Amino acid sequence: MKRILLLARSAATGAALREMEALRDQATSLPDVADALYAFAEEGSPSLRSAIETLIATPEPVLIVPILVPVEPSFLLGVKRSLQRWQGGDSRPWPEIRIAPPFSRQAPMRELLAIVIDTAEAETTAVEKVEAPPPLEGSVVPAQRRRVLVCQGGPCIRAGAETIWGHLRNEQKRLSLRTSGEGTMSAKTSCLGPCSLAPVLQVWPEGTYYGGVDEAGIDRIVEEHLLRGDIVEDLAYLPTGTKQRLRG
Ligand code: FES
Repeated sequence: MKRILLLARSAATGAALREMEALRDQATSLPDVADALYAFAEEGSPSLRSAIETLIATPEPVLIVPILVPVEPSFLLGVKRSLQRWQGGDSRPWPEIRIAPPFSRQAPMRELLAIVIDTAEAETTAVEKVEAPPPLEGSVVPAQRRRVLVCQGGPCIRAGAETIWGHLRNEQKRLSLRTSGEGTMSAKTSCLGPCSLAPVLQVWPEGTYYGGVDEAGIDRIVEEHLLRGDIVEDLAYLPTGTKQRLRG
């Protein structure tokens, strides 16, 4: 019997969560599945970290099934590195964890596509021609003074930047950071430059670079920099004009 973790990228709405619940229920009903959970690698609850916390409480092996098409190899490598980082910092015994190959490489995908094309007509969404899209309502220009840019370039993704982004977004929501202190907004960005320091993020308006950031690092940056305005010196890297590596 298998224990399955269905891994999606992110979800912010109840409808998306219900989709994952339905998939989980279907996985649970398979004959050789003892238990199935779902989690999000980026933003959304439960996070990959919290699902893993549940799964390591018992010793049976876990199969992580990425519910993504397409799957960038760097995404899977980043997930693997995050799991290794969490396990490396944990003295408890962990069950064996394996990651399944991408959906798109499975032969039954052809049959699944055929079923969707043949039978889903009743659920299709019609796209009617309209003369002009409805005008957007007015928007408020954000007053938040702080911005966190989280690098999503290749080296940072391979170092686990997507789980770091997910942790930041979940904490941003939990702590209402948009309206706390000077107000913080966050965004993903392409390569910020110092790839040897992956995973990298940058906090504005100071423009402070942080490297080698993990979940504990995010917690400190939130508490000390975003809420109190103090740069976290031991995680920060200054533009010295010389090549730098991660400290320690
Ligand atoms: S890929 Fe992140 S700093 Fe270059």
